[in-house]
Amino acid sequence: MRPNSLEARDLTGVVHGLTNLKTHQERGPLVIESGKGVWVTDTDGRRYIEAMSGLWCASLGWGEERLADVAAQQMKKLAYYHLTNHRSHPPVIELAEKLISIAPSPMARVWFASTGSEANDCAVRLAWYHWHAQGQPEKRKIIAHKLAYHGNTIVSASMSGVDYNHNGFGLPLPGFLHVECPHYWKNGRPGETETDYAARLVGELEAVILAEGPETIAAFFTEPVLAAGGVVVPPAGYLDGVQALLAKYEILLGVDEVVTGFGRIGDMFGSTTMGLKPDLLVCAKALSSAYIPISALLLSPRVWDSMVTQSERLGVLGLTMTYSGHPVATAVAREALRIYEEDDIPGRVRRLEERFLGGLRALANKHAIVGEVRGKGLLAGVELACDRTGKAPFPREAKVGPTAQMIGETHGLMFRAIGDTLAFCPPLIISEGEIDELLARLDTTLRQTAETVKAAGAM
Ligand SMILES: Cc1ncc(COP(=O)(O)O)c(C=O)c1O
Repeated sequence: MRPNSLEARDLTGVVHGLTNLKTHQERGPLVIESGKGVWVTDTDGRRYIEAMSGLWCASLGWGEERLADVAAQQMKKLAYYHLTNHRSHPPVIELAEKLISIAPSPMARVWFASTGSEANDCAVRLAWYHWHAQGQPEKRKIIAHKLAYHGNTIVSASMSGVDYNHNGFGLPLPGFLHVECPHYWKNGRPGETETDYAARLVGELEAVILAEGPETIAAFFTEPVLAAGGVVVPPAGYLDGVQALLAKYEILLGVDEVVTGFGRIGDMFGSTTMGLKPDLLVCAKALSSAYIPISALLLSPRVWDSMVTQSERLGVLGLTMTYSGHPVATAVAREALRIYEEDDIPGRVRRLEERFLGGLRALANKHAIVGEVRGKGLLAGVELACDRTGKAPFPREAKVGPTAQMIGETHGLMFRAIGDTLAFCPPLIISEGEIDELLARLDTTLRQTAETVKAAGAM
């Protein structure tokens, strides 16, 4: 039966019938009690490979004692201090200096916050502040990608190109524009090469810039690889073309490295892997391996110069938050960076990439339900589809991805279904044996998902 003629049907019900599982609604949340390495354990004692590092964040896995010890020591020494009124403290100074020394392109200063959303919010605020300082206050519009996720404050949700961040909230705010998600497999036209596709998108972006007026556009934001947007790796040439346009029309480049930062795709920053030179670089999550909330915004010299000029004119820079650069958070983040360097985590990711992505591709060859495997480093998306053309998705109502997620859980494997894309972002400390175990559990999950889909007549 052709999937598109399929009567809309929620397969999660079928899988419950087949496996006698309780739905999440019946069961309530899955309560996770403890973790060690890449494994987490629920309150019933069931163990799972946490192949999403929680929410793309616990890069050093669970139970890293060095981070816990540093937090305890810092709490005893100086549990809190702030950065306003010309105050500072050693852990924040050390962390800022370290971040600047490892930045993918020259950076002048670091601004701290607690979450990725806040740091993206601050990035937009400072892009606006920059253009005010330059005497161009009308340069305010922000362009980002459809489907990209940048956070949940009002500004970062406006930057996000996802309906569920907007619908019912009256968002995005005016002046937040979204261009096509650069996903060749899904959005490429019949007969269009990847190079042609990249060139077409760059042309479309230029058309948007010209239609809106370059003098009204403050910044363009992208992730090096779009994570929550479905793990989309932009096609070769696209990001170079975008950067050429931004230079031509004097638009700042904001790079959201909230997921890709600190080794995830094989370099300390994804900007290096993808050849990006940000004016504003946002990181969070793995900055502390998620052991404590902290985010950072790295500022290029030209943005920093504007901040100095403008705050000399205006006085107080109104961007402070109580927990910006918190001593315990910055001490933990500094220790996490030490571990990334001492254990050469980016090099480790490059060495493991083939085992991980190659293993996923081998599963795709085995299971017809997999349409595409994409990714970089230890970040991957396995997209379930009716065929390999990218043009025949399952009906949304069938919830094929969420069905696979539930089946995976029964096999002790945690990943995240973003629609029908199964996202994988395992801790970067995962061993080769654990990658093989992850793949074995996914193999079983895909087989059972296909059986479920077939039983429901969706394939
Ligand atoms: C790329 C990206 N940017 C920003 C955010 C928001 O970060 P937070 O949840 O820490 O506010 C996320 C969260 O998943 C993200 O994936």
